[in-house]
Amino acid sequence: MTNANPFSENINKMKGSSTLKAAQAATRLREEGHKVIDLTVGEPDFDTPEFIKQFAWEGLQKGLTKYTPAGGMKIYRESIANFYNEEFGSNIVPNEIAASCGGKQGLFNAIATIVNQGDDVLLPKPYWVTFPEVVNFCGARNVYIETEETDFILTADQVKEAITDKTKLLIVNSPNNPTGCVIPGDEMIKIFDVCIEKGVYVITDECYLLFVYPPAEVFSGASLPKEYLEYVCVAGSFSKTYAMTGWRIGYTITNEAWTKQMIKLQSHSATHPTSFVQYGCAKALEHKEKSLNAVREMLDQYQKRRDWFIPALQEIEGLKVAMPEGAFYAFVDVRGLLGDRFKSSADFGYQILNESHVVTTDGEGFGADGFLRLSYATSMENLETAVEKIRNFINSK
Ligand SMILES: Cc1ncc(COP(=O)(O)O)c(C=O)c1O
Repeated sequence: MTNANPFSENINKMKGSSTLKAAQAATRLREEGHKVIDLTVGEPDFDTPEFIKQFAWEGLQKGLTKYTPAGGMKIYRESIANFYNEEFGSNIVPNEIAASCGGKQGLFNAIATIVNQGDDVLLPKPYWVTFPEVVNFCGARNVYIETEETDFILTADQVKEAITDKTKLLIVNSPNNPTGCVIPGDEMIKIFDVCIEKGVYVITDECYLLFVYPPAEVFSGASLPKEYLEYVCVAGSFSKTYAMTGWRIGYTITNEAWTKQMIKLQSHSATHPTSFVQYGCAKALEHKEKSLNAVREMLDQYQKRRDWFIPALQEIEGLKVAMPEGAFYAFVDVRGLLGDRFKSSADFGYQILNESHVVTTDGEGFGADGFLRLSYATSMENLETAVEKIRNFINSK
Protein backbone atom coordinates (compact mmCIF):
# COMPACT_ATOMS: atom_id res chain seq x y z
CA MET A 1 0.00 0.00 0.00
CA THR A 2 1.40 3.45 -0.86
CA ASN A 3 1.58 6.11 1.79
CA ALA A 4 -0.53 9.06 0.55
CA ASN A 5 1.77 11.54 2.21
CA PRO A 6 5.25 10.19 2.86
CA PHE A 7 6.75 13.67 3.09
CA SER A 8 8.41 15.29 6.06
CA GLU A 9 6.42 17.29 8.60
CA ASN A 10 8.66 20.25 7.88
CA ILE A 11 7.87 20.31 4.19
CA ASN A 12 4.19 19.59 4.76
CA LYS A 13 3.89 22.74 6.85
CA MET A 14 5.55 24.88 4.17
CA LYS A 15 3.21 26.94 1.98
CA GLY A 16 3.91 27.38 -1.73
CA SER A 17 4.85 30.88 -2.83
CA SER A 18 1.77 33.09 -3.27
CA THR A 19 3.71 35.33 -5.65
CA LEU A 20 4.29 32.32 -7.89
CA LYS A 21 0.58 31.45 -7.77
CA ALA A 22 -0.31 34.87 -9.17
CA ALA A 23 2.29 34.50 -11.92
CA GLN A 24 0.82 31.10 -12.81
CA ALA A 25 -2.64 32.66 -13.16
CA ALA A 26 -1.15 35.13 -15.66
CA THR A 27 0.42 32.27 -17.63
CA ARG A 28 -2.90 30.40 -17.75
CA LEU A 29 -4.72 33.42 -19.18
CA ARG A 30 -1.99 33.97 -21.78
CA GLU A 31 -2.21 30.32 -22.82
CA GLU A 32 -5.95 30.83 -23.30
CA GLY A 33 -5.04 33.59 -25.78
CA HIS A 34 -5.86 36.66 -23.67
CA LYS A 35 -3.77 39.82 -23.57
CA VAL A 36 -2.74 39.97 -19.96
CA ILE A 37 -1.57 42.99 -17.97
CA ASP A 38 0.78 41.39 -15.49
CA LEU A 39 1.48 43.45 -12.38
CA THR A 40 2.89 40.52 -10.40
CA VAL A 41 6.40 40.73 -11.76
CA GLY A 42 9.02 40.51 -9.02
CA GLU A 43 11.98 41.15 -11.28
CA PRO A 44 13.37 43.92 -13.50
CA ASP A 45 11.99 44.06 -17.03
CA PHE A 46 15.44 45.12 -18.27
CA ASP A 47 18.07 42.77 -19.68
CA THR A 48 21.37 42.25 -17.81
CA PRO A 49 23.83 44.98 -18.89
CA GLU A 50 25.87 43.75 -21.86
CA PHE A 51 29.27 44.28 -20.22
CA ILE A 52 28.34 41.93 -17.35
CA LYS A 53 27.39 39.24 -19.87
CA GLN A 54 30.77 39.78 -21.58
CA PHE A 55 32.63 39.36 -18.28
CA ALA A 56 30.80 36.09 -17.56
CA TRP A 57 31.68 34.92 -21.07
CA GLU A 58 35.31 35.87 -20.41
CA GLY A 59 35.14 33.65 -17.32
CA LEU A 60 33.92 30.73 -19.42
CA GLN A 61 36.67 31.29 -21.98
CA LYS A 62 39.22 31.29 -19.20
CA GLY A 63 38.06 27.78 -18.34
CA LEU A 64 36.27 28.65 -15.10
CA THR A 65 34.02 25.64 -15.42
CA LYS A 66 34.96 23.72 -12.28
CA TYR A 67 34.03 23.80 -8.59
CA THR A 68 34.99 26.90 -6.66
CA PRO A 69 35.38 27.09 -2.85
CA ALA A 70 31.92 26.75 -1.23
CA GLY A 71 32.13 30.31 0.14
CA GLY A 72 32.92 31.66 -3.32
CA MET A 73 35.99 32.52 -5.40
CA LYS A 74 38.62 34.79 -3.89
CA ILE A 75 38.07 37.38 -6.64
CA TYR A 76 34.31 37.38 -5.94
CA ARG A 77 34.64 37.88 -2.19
CA GLU A 78 37.36 40.50 -2.64
CA SER A 79 35.39 42.52 -5.17
CA ILE A 80 32.33 42.64 -2.88
CA ALA A 81 34.50 43.68 0.09
CA ASN A 82 36.11 46.42 -2.04
CA PHE A 83 32.74 47.60 -3.33
CA TYR A 84 31.30 48.03 0.17
CA ASN A 85 34.49 49.53 1.55
CA GLU A 86 34.62 52.14 -1.21
CA GLU A 87 30.89 52.89 -1.40
CA PHE A 88 30.01 52.72 2.28
CA GLY A 89 33.32 53.40 4.04
CA SER A 90 33.19 50.00 5.73
CA ASN A 91 36.07 47.72 6.56
CA ILE A 92 34.85 44.34 5.34
CA VAL A 93 37.33 41.54 4.65
CA PRO A 94 36.67 38.64 2.21
CA ASN A 95 36.33 36.08 5.05
CA GLU A 96 33.24 37.95 6.21
CA ILE A 97 31.56 37.30 2.86
CA ALA A 98 29.95 34.10 1.58
CA ALA A 99 28.74 33.67 -1.99
CA SER A 100 25.21 32.30 -2.36
CA CYS A 101 22.82 31.31 -5.14
CA GLY A 102 20.82 34.53 -5.05
CA GLY A 103 19.89 36.51 -1.99
CA LYS A 104 17.35 33.82 -1.19
CA GLN A 105 19.92 31.14 -0.47
CA GLY A 106 21.96 33.57 1.61
CA LEU A 107 18.85 34.32 3.67
CA PHE A 108 18.09 30.62 4.06
CA ASN A 109 21.67 29.92 5.14
CA ALA A 110 21.61 32.79 7.63
CA ILE A 111 18.28 31.78 9.23
CA ALA A 112 19.07 28.07 9.33
CA THR A 113 22.44 28.58 11.01
CA ILE A 114 21.25 30.88 13.79
CA VAL A 115 17.84 29.67 15.03
CA ASN A 116 17.08 26.65 17.18
CA GLN A 117 13.83 24.73 17.55
CA GLY A 118 11.48 26.79 19.71
CA ASP A 119 13.30 30.13 19.28
CA ASP A 120 11.20 33.20 18.53
CA VAL A 121 11.92 35.19 15.40
CA LEU A 122 10.58 38.74 15.07
CA LEU A 123 9.09 39.47 11.68
CA PRO A 124 7.64 42.89 10.85
CA LYS A 125 4.42 42.82 8.84
CA PRO A 126 4.02 42.98 5.88
CA TYR A 127 6.86 40.53 5.21
CA TRP A 128 8.36 38.96 2.12
CA VAL A 129 6.64 35.59 1.64
CA THR A 130 9.75 33.46 2.08
CA PHE A 131 10.72 34.60 5.59
CA PRO A 132 7.99 32.93 7.70
CA GLU A 133 8.25 29.71 5.69
CA VAL A 134 11.99 29.35 6.29
CA VAL A 135 11.60 30.22 9.98
CA ASN A 136 8.89 27.53 10.32
CA PHE A 137 10.97 25.05 8.38
CA CYS A 138 13.79 25.53 10.89
CA GLY A 139 11.40 24.78 13.77
CA ALA A 140 11.41 28.34 15.12
CA ARG A 141 8.31 30.47 15.78
CA ASN A 142 7.34 33.62 13.88
CA VAL A 143 6.38 36.51 16.13
CA TYR A 144 4.89 39.27 14.02
CA ILE A 145 5.27 43.01 14.57
CA GLU A 146 2.40 45.15 13.26
CA THR A 147 3.67 48.31 11.52
CA GLU A 148 0.60 49.87 9.92
CA GLU A 149 0.50 52.51 12.66
CA THR A 150 3.91 53.78 11.53
CA ASP A 151 3.05 53.61 7.82
CA PHE A 152 4.77 50.21 7.48
CA ILE A 153 8.12 51.59 8.59
CA LEU A 154 9.50 49.50 11.43
CA THR A 155 10.70 51.49 14.44
CA ALA A 156 13.16 50.67 17.22
CA ASP A 157 10.37 51.17 19.78
CA GLN A 158 8.25 48.49 18.11
CA VAL A 159 11.20 46.10 18.17
CA LYS A 160 11.97 46.89 21.82
CA GLU A 161 8.41 46.15 22.81
CA ALA A 162 8.38 42.84 20.94
CA ILE A 163 11.63 41.39 22.32
CA THR A 164 11.30 38.72 25.03
CA ASP A 165 13.70 36.19 26.58
CA LYS A 166 12.82 33.79 23.78
CA THR A 167 13.71 36.16 20.92
CA LYS A 168 16.74 34.99 18.97
CA LEU A 169 16.47 36.89 15.72
CA LEU A 170 14.88 39.84 13.94
CA ILE A 171 14.50 39.83 10.16
CA VAL A 172 14.25 43.24 8.46
CA ASN A 173 13.93 44.12 4.81
CA SER A 174 14.50 47.63 3.50
CA PRO A 175 13.79 48.73 0.80
CA ASN A 176 10.80 46.51 1.36
CA ASN A 177 8.97 43.96 -0.71
CA PRO A 178 5.93 44.30 -0.78
CA THR A 179 5.51 47.89 0.52
CA GLY A 180 8.37 49.75 -1.18
CA CYS A 181 9.02 51.43 2.20
CA VAL A 182 12.52 52.42 3.24
CA ILE A 183 13.58 52.49 6.89
CA PRO A 184 15.78 55.59 7.38
CA GLY A 185 19.40 54.78 8.25
CA ASP A 186 19.26 56.43 11.69
CA GLU A 187 16.19 54.37 12.66
CA MET A 188 17.86 51.23 11.36
CA ILE A 189 20.87 51.89 13.61
CA LYS A 190 18.52 52.31 16.58
CA ILE A 191 16.86 49.00 15.66
CA PHE A 192 20.25 47.26 15.57
CA ASP A 193 21.23 48.85 18.88
CA VAL A 194 18.03 47.70 20.61
CA CYS A 195 18.61 44.14 19.35
CA ILE A 196 22.29 43.99 20.18
CA GLU A 197 21.67 45.28 23.69
CA LYS A 198 19.33 42.32 24.25
CA GLY A 199 21.58 39.79 22.49
CA VAL A 200 19.18 39.43 19.55
CA TYR A 201 20.62 38.71 16.09
CA VAL A 202 19.48 40.63 13.01
CA ILE A 203 19.30 39.53 9.39
CA THR A 204 18.89 42.54 7.15
CA ASP A 205 17.69 41.78 3.64
CA GLU A 206 19.24 44.39 1.36
CA CYS A 207 18.34 42.79 -1.95
CA TYR A 208 16.92 46.14 -3.18
CA LEU A 209 19.77 48.13 -1.61
CA LEU A 210 20.40 50.63 -4.43
CA PHE A 211 16.75 50.94 -5.49
CA VAL A 212 15.99 54.01 -3.43
CA TYR A 213 14.40 57.19 -4.82
CA PRO A 214 15.74 60.53 -3.58
CA PRO A 215 15.27 62.20 -1.16
CA ALA A 216 15.27 58.78 0.59
CA GLU A 217 18.83 57.59 1.11
CA VAL A 218 20.60 54.29 0.56
CA PHE A 219 21.64 52.63 3.82
CA SER A 220 23.57 49.41 4.32
CA GLY A 221 24.05 47.60 7.63
CA ALA A 222 27.53 46.79 6.30
CA SER A 223 28.45 50.47 6.59
CA LEU A 224 28.45 50.32 10.41
CA PRO A 225 31.47 49.72 12.68
CA LYS A 226 32.68 46.13 12.79
CA GLU A 227 31.12 45.39 16.22
CA TYR A 228 27.68 45.42 14.58
CA LEU A 229 28.59 42.42 12.44
CA GLU A 230 28.87 40.33 15.63
CA TYR A 231 25.06 40.32 15.58
CA VAL A 232 24.06 41.59 12.14
CA CYS A 233 24.07 39.63 8.88
CA VAL A 234 23.50 41.51 5.62
CA ALA A 235 21.97 39.57 2.71
CA GLY A 236 22.73 41.05 -0.70
CA SER A 237 22.00 40.09 -4.28
CA PHE A 238 22.80 40.95 -7.86
CA SER A 239 19.30 39.86 -8.96
CA LYS A 240 17.34 43.10 -8.85
CA THR A 241 20.17 45.65 -8.81
CA TYR A 242 21.81 44.49 -12.03
CA ALA A 243 18.77 42.79 -13.60
CA MET A 244 20.27 39.32 -13.11
CA THR A 245 17.49 37.30 -11.48
CA GLY A 246 18.14 34.22 -13.60
CA TRP A 247 21.86 34.11 -12.84
CA ARG A 248 21.24 33.13 -9.20
CA ILE A 249 23.97 35.05 -7.48
CA GLY A 250 24.11 36.80 -4.11
CA TYR A 251 26.11 36.98 -0.89
CA THR A 252 26.02 37.47 2.84
CA ILE A 253 28.19 39.77 4.94
CA THR A 254 28.65 39.07 8.64
CA ASN A 255 31.29 38.02 11.18
CA GLU A 256 33.71 35.22 10.22
CA ALA A 257 32.24 32.65 12.60
CA TRP A 258 28.68 32.98 11.24
CA THR A 259 30.04 33.08 7.68
CA LYS A 260 31.88 29.79 8.26
CA GLN A 261 28.71 28.09 9.50
CA MET A 262 26.76 29.29 6.47
CA ILE A 263 29.49 28.02 4.15
CA LYS A 264 29.42 24.65 5.92
CA LEU A 265 25.66 24.42 5.35
CA GLN A 266 25.95 25.47 1.73
CA SER A 267 28.79 22.98 1.12
CA HIS A 268 26.20 20.23 1.70
CA SER A 269 23.54 21.73 -0.58
CA ALA A 270 24.21 23.95 -3.63
CA THR A 271 27.97 24.04 -2.86
CA HIS A 272 28.39 27.46 -4.50
CA PRO A 273 26.91 29.71 -7.18
CA THR A 274 28.08 29.15 -10.76
CA SER A 275 31.82 29.73 -11.22
CA PHE A 276 31.80 31.99 -14.27
CA VAL A 277 28.86 33.96 -12.88
CA GLN A 278 30.93 34.72 -9.78
CA TYR A 279 33.75 35.84 -12.06
CA GLY A 280 31.44 38.04 -14.19
CA CYS A 281 30.03 39.74 -11.09
CA ALA A 282 33.48 40.26 -9.59
CA LYS A 283 34.67 41.92 -12.78
CA ALA A 284 31.53 44.04 -12.97
CA LEU A 285 32.14 45.35 -9.45
CA GLU A 286 35.78 46.04 -10.33
CA HIS A 287 34.28 48.40 -12.95
CA LYS A 288 32.26 50.10 -10.26
CA GLU A 289 31.37 53.32 -12.08
CA LYS A 290 30.16 51.44 -15.14
CA SER A 291 28.04 49.17 -12.95
CA LEU A 292 26.61 52.03 -10.94
CA ASN A 293 25.79 53.93 -14.13
CA ALA A 294 23.86 50.92 -15.40
CA VAL A 295 21.93 50.82 -12.12
CA ARG A 296 21.23 54.57 -12.31
CA GLU A 297 19.82 54.23 -15.82
CA MET A 298 17.39 51.53 -14.68
CA LEU A 299 16.51 53.44 -11.54
CA ASP A 300 15.65 56.51 -13.65
CA GLN A 301 13.14 54.43 -15.56
CA TYR A 302 11.59 52.98 -12.40
CA GLN A 303 11.33 56.46 -10.94
CA LYS A 304 9.53 57.83 -14.03
CA ARG A 305 7.07 54.97 -13.85
CA ARG A 306 6.55 55.37 -10.12
CA ASP A 307 6.01 59.13 -10.46
CA TRP A 308 3.26 58.53 -13.00
CA PHE A 309 1.74 55.29 -11.68
CA ILE A 310 1.20 56.12 -8.00
CA PRO A 311 -0.64 59.46 -8.49
CA ALA A 312 -2.76 57.79 -11.21
CA LEU A 313 -3.73 55.02 -8.76
CA GLN A 314 -4.40 57.57 -6.01
CA GLU A 315 -7.03 59.19 -8.22
CA ILE A 316 -9.07 56.00 -8.47
CA GLU A 317 -12.07 55.89 -6.14
CA GLY A 318 -11.63 53.57 -3.16
CA LEU A 319 -7.87 52.97 -3.53
CA LYS A 320 -5.29 54.18 -1.03
CA VAL A 321 -1.62 54.02 -1.85
CA ALA A 322 1.44 55.75 -0.42
CA MET A 323 4.38 56.90 -2.55
CA PRO A 324 6.98 54.10 -2.22
CA GLU A 325 10.54 55.27 -1.56
CA GLY A 326 12.26 52.16 -2.87
CA ALA A 327 12.03 48.86 -4.80
CA PHE A 328 9.42 48.71 -7.60
CA TYR A 329 6.13 47.91 -5.90
CA ALA A 330 2.97 49.86 -5.13
CA PHE A 331 1.16 48.50 -2.09
CA VAL A 332 -2.48 49.33 -2.57
CA ASP A 333 -5.04 49.40 0.21
CA VAL A 334 -8.38 48.22 -1.23
CA ARG A 335 -10.20 47.97 2.12
CA GLY A 336 -12.27 51.01 1.13
CA LEU A 337 -13.91 48.86 -1.55
CA LEU A 338 -14.72 45.84 0.58
CA GLY A 339 -18.30 45.03 1.52
CA ASP A 340 -21.02 44.40 -1.06
CA ARG A 341 -18.80 44.66 -4.10
CA PHE A 342 -15.84 42.60 -2.94
CA LYS A 343 -15.58 40.23 0.00
CA SER A 344 -11.81 40.60 0.35
CA SER A 345 -8.71 41.81 -1.46
CA ALA A 346 -8.32 38.24 -2.78
CA ASP A 347 -11.86 38.46 -4.19
CA PHE A 348 -11.02 41.82 -5.80
CA GLY A 349 -7.89 40.26 -7.32
CA TYR A 350 -9.82 37.24 -8.55
CA GLN A 351 -12.56 39.31 -10.18
CA ILE A 352 -10.22 41.77 -11.89
CA LEU A 353 -8.13 38.86 -13.12
CA ASN A 354 -11.06 37.10 -14.75
CA GLU A 355 -12.96 40.14 -16.00
CA SER A 356 -10.18 42.58 -16.98
CA HIS A 357 -7.17 40.26 -17.25
CA VAL A 358 -5.14 42.40 -14.88
CA VAL A 359 -3.03 40.17 -12.65
CA THR A 360 -2.14 41.39 -9.16
CA THR A 361 -0.62 39.79 -6.07
CA ASP A 362 -2.86 39.56 -3.02
CA GLY A 363 -1.57 40.96 0.27
CA GLU A 364 -2.54 37.89 2.28
CA GLY A 365 0.70 36.06 1.43
CA PHE A 366 2.60 39.06 2.84
CA GLY A 367 0.53 39.07 6.03
CA ALA A 368 -1.54 42.04 4.83
CA ASP A 369 -5.13 41.12 3.98
CA GLY A 370 -6.95 43.98 2.27
CA PHE A 371 -3.95 45.03 0.18
CA LEU A 372 -2.70 44.24 -3.31
CA ARG A 373 0.89 44.46 -4.49
CA LEU A 374 1.25 46.00 -7.96
CA SER A 375 4.68 45.85 -9.55
CA TYR A 376 5.78 48.68 -11.81
CA ALA A 377 8.69 46.70 -13.25
CA THR A 378 6.82 46.81 -16.54
CA SER A 379 6.48 49.24 -19.45
CA MET A 380 4.73 52.63 -19.18
CA GLU A 381 2.33 51.40 -21.83
CA ASN A 382 1.32 48.46 -19.62
CA LEU A 383 0.98 50.72 -16.62
CA GLU A 384 -1.28 53.11 -18.54
CA THR A 385 -3.48 50.24 -19.71
CA ALA A 386 -3.52 48.81 -16.18
CA VAL A 387 -4.72 52.07 -14.62
CA GLU A 388 -7.47 52.43 -17.21
CA LYS A 389 -8.62 48.85 -16.70
CA ILE A 390 -8.55 49.12 -12.89
CA ARG A 391 -10.57 52.36 -13.03
CA ASN A 392 -13.15 50.93 -15.46
CA PHE A 393 -13.40 47.71 -13.48
CA ILE A 394 -14.11 49.51 -10.19
CA ASN A 395 -16.59 51.88 -11.86
CA SER A 396 -18.45 48.92 -13.37
CA LYS A 397 -19.15 47.40 -9.94
C1 LIG B 1 12.68 40.97 -0.31
C2 LIG B 1 13.40 39.98 -1.15
N1 LIG B 1 14.47 39.38 -0.64
C3 LIG B 1 15.15 38.46 -1.34
C4 LIG B 1 14.78 38.11 -2.61
C5 LIG B 1 15.59 37.07 -3.29
O1 LIG B 1 16.06 37.40 -4.53
P1 LIG B 1 17.20 36.56 -5.23
O2 LIG B 1 17.24 35.22 -4.60
O3 LIG B 1 16.80 36.50 -6.66
O4 LIG B 1 18.45 37.32 -5.00
C6 LIG B 1 13.65 38.69 -3.18
C7 LIG B 1 13.17 38.28 -4.50
O5 LIG B 1 12.06 38.53 -4.90
C8 LIG B 1 12.96 39.67 -2.44
O6 LIG B 1 11.88 40.30 -2.93
